[in-house]
Amino acid sequence: MAGWDKKLLWSFMFLLAGAVAQTVVYPFTSTCAVRGSTVTLPCTFTPRKSFSDGQREVPLKIVRVRWCKNHVLCQGSMPSVYDSNSANIDPRYQYLGDKKTNCTLQIRDVQQGDNASFRFRMEADRPEGHFTNQTGVNVTVVDSSKMRIISSSDDKKLSRGENVTLLCASVCTFHQLEVTWFKDGHALSDTGPSLHLSPLTAEDSGNYTCALKKSMETLSEPYSLQVEAGAGGNLPPIPGVVFVVLLVVIALVLFIVERRLRAAEGQRAAEAS
Ligand SMILES: *[C@@H]1O[C@H](CO)[C@@H](O)[C@H](O)[C@H]1NC(C)=O
Ligand SMILES: *[C@@H]1O[C@H](CO)[C@@H](O)[C@H](O)[C@H]1NC(C)=O
Ligand SMILES: *[C@@H]1O[C@H](CO)[C@@H](O)[C@H](O)[C@H]1NC(C)=O
Ligand SMILES: *[C@@H]1O[C@H](CO)[C@@H](O)[C@H](O)[C@H]1NC(C)=O
Ligand SMILES: *[C@@H]1O[C@H](CO)[C@@H](O)[C@H](O)[C@H]1NC(C)=O
Ligand SMILES: *[C@@H]1O[C@H](CO)[C@@H](O)[C@H](O)[C@H]1NC(C)=O
Repeated sequence: MAGWDKKLLWSFMFLLAGAVAQTVVYPFTSTCAVRGSTVTLPCTFTPRKSFSDGQREVPLKIVRVRWCKNHVLCQGSMPSVYDSNSANIDPRYQYLGDKKTNCTLQIRDVQQGDNASFRFRMEADRPEGHFTNQTGVNVTVVDSSKMRIISSSDDKKLSRGENVTLLCASVCTFHQLEVTWFKDGHALSDTGPSLHLSPLTAEDSGNYTCALKKSMETLSEPYSLQVEAGAGGNLPPIPGVVFVVLLVVIALVLFIVERRLRAAEGQRAAEAS
């Protein structure tokens, strides 16, 4: 009785282990690529180690890996973009993975026809080890890679003291976005995708553009920002003028005082001699 229970439990555990172990994970389920560029579809998989045929555990071994375009299961005679069993495949599709854990696919010279769902399938020496994750990776192919500027504020006219964040974005999402920001054609030191301007001053007014670093063909259309002395402005222009006048007066006073001192000194020297 106890032996039976144990056997059942073990079978159940193996079943669970087998079912849980079998995965295909795509870190990015959707990605974007510019036509003509190279895109990588990261992918990792865990094959099922073995299965129970009712009497014993039968080990499994992956014998075939493949990638399909727009096929939910990618099985049988479905055409593949990559198939480890076929020598006749498009060299644009490079399998960077293996038959153990890595199923990364790289697509070179991306074409419009690559705007599709890609799925990886593993096939073992027994059908029990075959598996496709139906989630897949959606690749969106775009023609233009021009960046565009998105503002955190709908208003293009902002007041002094307010703050605004400009975001340099693209129709494509890049995983590591390094951009160059320009203000009236001059490069700024910021390299992140977002430019935070806070608090705004009149000097922040201008035409902003951005581009992917080292890729000026992605230069965005200009974004015109105007900062005006509005109700929210806590630094009106008058204090600035007053400050400058004050500086000039102080400088003048110092100059006069110094000349007086020099004259007095000269007089004293003359008297002493
Ligand atoms: C299928 O892929 C998705 C996305 O990577 C992942 O979250 C999920 O766990 C996968 N399922 C299996 C059974 O591998
Ligand atoms: C991928 O595309 C298919 C159809 O084009 C859609 O049904 C699915 O929701 C998309 N998946 C993701 C993760 O965007
Ligand atoms: C899979 O292989 C590719 C190419 O060799 C590599 O860049 C990537 O880091 C690997 N992924 C994992 C999870 O090991
Ligand atoms: C292919 O592109 C169209 C837009 O042109 C998009 O609506 C569709 O979801 C894309 N298909 C896939 C599978 O990504
Ligand atoms: C920027 O303004 C928003 C509201 O307009 C406010 O919530 C935020 O705290 C401000 N940030 C800074 C750094 O001033
Ligand atoms: C910004 O561009 C507009 C037209 O696009 C122009 O009228 C304006 O003078 C420019 N501003 C600066 C500071 O260059």
